[in-house]
Amino acid sequence: MALITKKPRGTEDVLPRDSYRWQFLEDLFRDEARAFGYKELRTPVFEHTNLFERGVGDTTDVVQKEMYTFLTKGGDSITLRPEGTAGAARAFLEHGLHNDPLPIKAYYLTSCYRYEKPQAGRLREFHQFGMECYGTQNPAADAELITAAANIFDRLGLKNIRLEINSIGCPKCRAEYHKALKEYFGGYKDELCEDCRDRLERNPMRLLDCKVPHDHEIAEKAPTVLDYLCDECREHFDGVKAYLDSNGVEYTVNPTIVRGLDYYTKTVFEFISGDIGAQSTICGGGRYDGLIEDLGGNPMPALGFAAGIERLLLTLDAQGIEIPEPAPCDIYIASMGDNAHKKASELCNALRKSGMYAEFDVVGRGLRAQMKYADKLKAKFSLVLGDDELSGGTGRLKNMDNGEQVDIPLDTDAFTQSFIAAKLDHEYKTAASK
Ligand code: HAM
Repeated sequence: MALITKKPRGTEDVLPRDSYRWQFLEDLFRDEARAFGYKELRTPVFEHTNLFERGVGDTTDVVQKEMYTFLTKGGDSITLRPEGTAGAARAFLEHGLHNDPLPIKAYYLTSCYRYEKPQAGRLREFHQFGMECYGTQNPAADAELITAAANIFDRLGLKNIRLEINSIGCPKCRAEYHKALKEYFGGYKDELCEDCRDRLERNPMRLLDCKVPHDHEIAEKAPTVLDYLCDECREHFDGVKAYLDSNGVEYTVNPTIVRGLDYYTKTVFEFISGDIGAQSTICGGGRYDGLIEDLGGNPMPALGFAAGIERLLLTLDAQGIEIPEPAPCDIYIASMGDNAHKKASELCNALRKSGMYAEFDVVGRGLRAQMKYADKLKAKFSLVLGDDELSGGTGRLKNMDNGEQVDIPLDTDAFTQSFIAAKLDHEYKTAASK
C-alpha cells in the first residue's frame, strides 16, 4: 500500500522544532490584546454557509470562488471559515453581547480556509490573529485598533512596513459613488472580465480589487471614493487621522484601498510588507458598521482587523529577525543500571513538579550516548547516577557551561532544593557578569 505522506496543497505543517516561532507570536498577540482590553473569542471552524454569503458578501471572490463548502450528512450547507469577522459577529448576536458593557473587545487566533491558488504567502489553510470591537462610532476607536496592530509590528522589530488607510464611506455617500463607478466602468464594459460585468450591476466597488490585469489597469483611473464622502464620513476620517497622528502612528492615505470583503464602511486600512513579494498585505481591516444589522441584529457599529501569521513569519525571516529559542533543558540525569534509571525518573519527576525542565534516558542509550544527547538538548546541568552514587547518597552536579562540579544530595526533597539553588546561583552570576 502506498504511504500517505503528502499534505493537501496549500497547507503547512508546523513541526515541533519550529513551533516556538508560532508560540512566540501568539504570546505577543495575546499580550498586546490584553494591553488594549481585548478578551479571547473562540468560534467554530465551520459555520452555516449563508453566514458568509450574507456577511462577507456574495459578490466577493472569497464567497464566489474560494469557500470550502460542503453538505453534511444531515443535508446542511456548511462552510469552513474563510475569515474570522463573520463568525465573531454571529457569536456576538447569538449570545446577546450587546447587553454587556460596550465596547465589546474580542480577539482570536484561528485557522482560515480559502480555495486560492497557492503561492508564497498564499495558502489554502492559513492563520489569523484578529481583533474585533463592537459598540462605538468614535474615530478614537478606529485609531486605537490601528495602533494595536502597529504596536505589534513595532514590538517584533519589523521595518519596511507601510500602513495605508482610506475611507470608503457609508451607504449614504456610497450611493453617489456607485453611480460614478457604474458610469466610468460602463464605458469599458466590453473589455471587462465576465465576473466584473456581473459585479458592475450588483456591486461596482468590487471592480476596484479585481485581480485580472486588464481590469486592474482600467480600475486605476476610476473615480476615487474620497471625492464622494459625505460630511459625516469626511469628519470621521479626519478624526481617525488626527488620533493616529497623536499616537505617533505613521500612515499614508491610499484612496484605492477598498478591501476584498463587502462589510466595510468608513475606515479601511492595510499594513503592507515591502519584503515578501506579491502577497504583501500582512494585515487588513476596517470599520463595518452595517454587518450586525445585515445579520439580523439591531444597528451596532463595529470595527476590526486580522493579521496573517504565515505572512508575518515570512516578513520576520526576510528581515533576518530571529525569534528567541525556547529555554533549553535545565538538567539531564544520565543513569546506568536499573536502580539508577528508577532514581533518575523519580528525581526528574520531582524537579518537573517544581517547574524545571528535566530529562533522563527513556530510550535505553549507553552512558556516552546519553551525554551526547544531553549536549544536543543544550542541558544547563548534568548528573551521572550509578550504583556508587546511589549507595553513597550523593551525586556530582556538573554545570555544562563552565564545567564546575558540586556534590548534591540524592534524597529527593534535598536534591530538588539544592538543584534549584544551584541553578539560581548560576543564573545570578551569569547575569551579574554581563
Ligand atoms: P483579509 O484581508 O481577507 O481580511 O485577511 C486578513 C489577512 O489574512 C491578510 O492581510 C493576510 O495577511 C492574511 N491572509 C488572507 N488570505 C490569506 C491566504 N490565502 N494565505 C495566507 N494569508 C492570508 C479579513 O479576513 C478580515 N476578516 C479582517 C477584518 C477583521 N476586518 C475586520 N475585522
